[in-house]
Amino acid sequence: MEEEITRIGVSLPKNLLDDFDKVISERGYSSRSEAIRDAIRSYLAEYRWLEMEKGDIVGAISVIYDHSVRGVTDAITDFQHEFGNLITASVHLHLDENQCLELVLVRGDMSNIKKLLDKLTALRGVLNVKLITAARFREY
Ligand code: NI
Repeated sequence: MEEEITRIGVSLPKNLLDDFDKVISERGYSSRSEAIRDAIRSYLAEYRWLEMEKGDIVGAISVIYDHSVRGVTDAITDFQHEFGNLITASVHLHLDENQCLELVLVRGDMSNIKKLLDKLTALRGVLNVKLITAARFREY
């Protein structure tokens, strides 16, 4: 069955498009359209978990934070104890003088994992929180 195709026009800063074109030519895409379709699929897969209200998932939470902000390191540790039943492992990496990456592997109910994500995201000193799930991909 042939999927219906819609054409869209997009405005982009020139340097963003230049970087995109460079990457897609290195990766061997034959057209921008195909590369943009892939980029949108990746974006949707990345945020698929937002739709999931509950149910068991397996995933990894990455937290990038500035450890020089008072209290943030302790708070991240406290949350991991509070949500200890969800967490299977965590790894800490010192990125530079101030920034740290905490990678936390989780397994459990999505509604609880979302609570942990919300707490981490709200912390002062936390720069970025991402969840990568092993949820099944939808095909486009
Ligand atoms: Ni560190």
